[in-house]
Amino acid sequence: MTSRTKILLMVFVGAAVSLGTLVAQAQKKPAIAYPAYPNDPRKWRHVKTMVIFSKDNKLFNRFGGLHNVYVNDIGWPSLKAGKPYPDGSVFALELFDISTPQGAIEPRGRKALYMMKKSSKVYTDTGGWGFEVFQAYQPTGSLKDMKECFSCHAKQKNKDYVYSDYME
Ligand code: HEC
Repeated sequence: MTSRTKILLMVFVGAAVSLGTLVAQAQKKPAIAYPAYPNDPRKWRHVKTMVIFSKDNKLFNRFGGLHNVYVNDIGWPSLKAGKPYPDGSVFALELFDISTPQGAIEPRGRKALYMMKKSSKVYTDTGGWGFEVFQAYQPTGSLKDMKECFSCHAKQKNKDYVYSDYME
């Protein structure tokens, strides 16, 4: 190998390594930490409750069940005012299985906890929001790709990517 080829090879390997690092960085955004008791979402503001009980609703396969949405104190004033959210705002959607005994709809075990956290400089590919999913009561996130969540939430661009509205 001539020294020129060697140099070229080194430049090529160097470029490949930095490209690899860049790609890895692009995919690996800091995860959202599990909101453990006593600072869990049930301590935050309750935003809304919804029951998706039939296939007539297009979210049934994914989000069938009863869910409660919560927002933390940083996000709450923006929800109320219908304004963009400051960094540190967090929403949580807690989804339960349901049973329907004696004409009532009751929540059963938790299916999953969905979270979104605003950090505009970190989550630049997904509208400034990080997304995460915790299955059942598992404290480790299971989400592979935040874009999967953003594919829907992107439609809410005019509401800073949030679906929920403030209810009087
Ligand atoms: C198929 C479309 C769709 C996908 C995909 C989706 N969402 Fe949502 N998401 C919604 C809708 C619709 C609501 C509003 C539910 C309601 O009105 O109670 C919502 C609400 C939320 C909320 C409460 C805040 C808000 O925007 O109202 C969080 C948190 C949330 N989703 C997280 C996630 C996470 C994490 C993922 C990825 C695993 C995800 N979502 C994927 C449609 C979607």
